[in-house]
Amino acid sequence: MTAQLAMFGSKPVVEPEHRRLEWPVVTQADRDAVLRVLDSRKFTVGAKNEPEISGLESEWAEFCDTRYAVAVNSGTVALELALTALGIQPGDEVIVPALSYVATAMAPLYQLAVPVFVDIDPVTFNIDVRRVEEKITDRTRAIIPVHLGGLPADMDEIRALARRHGLLVIEDAVQAQGGTYRGETAGSMGAASVFSLNVEKSVPTCGEGGLIVTDDEEVATRCRSLRVLGEDLSTDERLYVSATRGSNLKLSSVLAAFTRAQLGRFWDYQERRDKNIPVFLERLGALPGIVVPTAPDDRTHMWHMLRFRFDPRAAGLEGVAAGPFRQALRRVLLAEGVPLTHYQIIPLPGQPVFQKQDAYGKGYPWSLPGVNPQRYDLADYPVTCQVIEDSLCLRRMHLNPDAGPALDAYASAFERVWENLDVVGRIARSLDYAPPWAVVKGHEGAGRTA
Ligand SMILES: Cc1ncc(COP(=O)(O)O)c(C=O)c1O
Repeated sequence: MTAQLAMFGSKPVVEPEHRRLEWPVVTQADRDAVLRVLDSRKFTVGAKNEPEISGLESEWAEFCDTRYAVAVNSGTVALELALTALGIQPGDEVIVPALSYVATAMAPLYQLAVPVFVDIDPVTFNIDVRRVEEKITDRTRAIIPVHLGGLPADMDEIRALARRHGLLVIEDAVQAQGGTYRGETAGSMGAASVFSLNVEKSVPTCGEGGLIVTDDEEVATRCRSLRVLGEDLSTDERLYVSATRGSNLKLSSVLAAFTRAQLGRFWDYQERRDKNIPVFLERLGALPGIVVPTAPDDRTHMWHMLRFRFDPRAAGLEGVAAGPFRQALRRVLLAEGVPLTHYQIIPLPGQPVFQKQDAYGKGYPWSLPGVNPQRYDLADYPVTCQVIEDSLCLRRMHLNPDAGPALDAYASAFERVWENLDVVGRIARSLDYAPPWAVVKGHEGAGRTA
């Protein structure tokens, strides 16, 4: 049996060309779009009658079913400006999930606001709405649900909570471009919502970019001003007058044009992905001990990322803990050529930047007068810890529209490994195991579930 595994010398199941797929897919339409800008000589939102940024903004607003979209130079900046435009103040508390990209929790710091973390749901990996209320205080001003991995969060429950407590909802829809929840489009359900156009996203640019969407004209106007040092660029002649604090956070026209070309192909790509990804998930779901991502009937999964949870007991391995099982599986499957990765090795509150509670020196914003103390203790996020310990991900670049043959090969590799689970069990038992977050100083033994 052992000889069958690539780890012990057999040919890996996955051929090299299927280990790293091309994403973004760049076509002649993208090249033409970029050249169109170079020939136009209008490169920035400040150029008179610049068509690409305004074109992207109106197409994106339509895509999201919102009245306005404002393009900026990253998804992180989109979050920061949305919070600013909505009036988040120093010392306000902003509720975020304990599992996300760090930008979700870092963005409130831009306004000297304090992130407050809530554990996740073990099935959807999104914020656990049942745990939000206990984190609401007299300082809470907003909640940022994240549609993690491409699956919309429980927006009705979140909006009901927000209404009850007078909170703003800002959707971090970065990973769920085009997704829907009970017939509503991702991005259309918050006071403002944000997207990223970085190269890993389903509608990317050839670099970095982001968008804020909203139905609120004032919020849109404020975001437009915040991205150009507080100026108003809608006057016939530029006046160079700054009405408010801002920075230079503009998207370039070349990047906007590239994204418009990508957006034109998005639904064709998504249709192909909606065919090949479920087939792959069905094959993996048939193996005991693998929990594959699912979408509740009331929302679409945009397959930004696939997170697989591994349960050693269901796989028939008694006496093997989840963490070592996941670690052994990763080694064996990587040897077979399956490009599995971690996505986040530590719950967000455990990130050193939050542990230090000092973003600006002198402990700000946590030391601002009247601010509630924060614990940021991993023990308060048991589900996030458990999920990080027992799961591995396939990222967007392995899920491109033509990934069908690669996904077939990955499924065959999993099946080969599952025929050798006794070997995986032996490897897992022999590991000197530490949880993924042990690499971070101060968290060596924390939150351990093994
Ligand atoms: C959930 C989430 N929020 C925010 C961001 C920030 O976007 P950007 O990388 O464009 O700054 C990302 C980036 O990938 C993300 O995944």
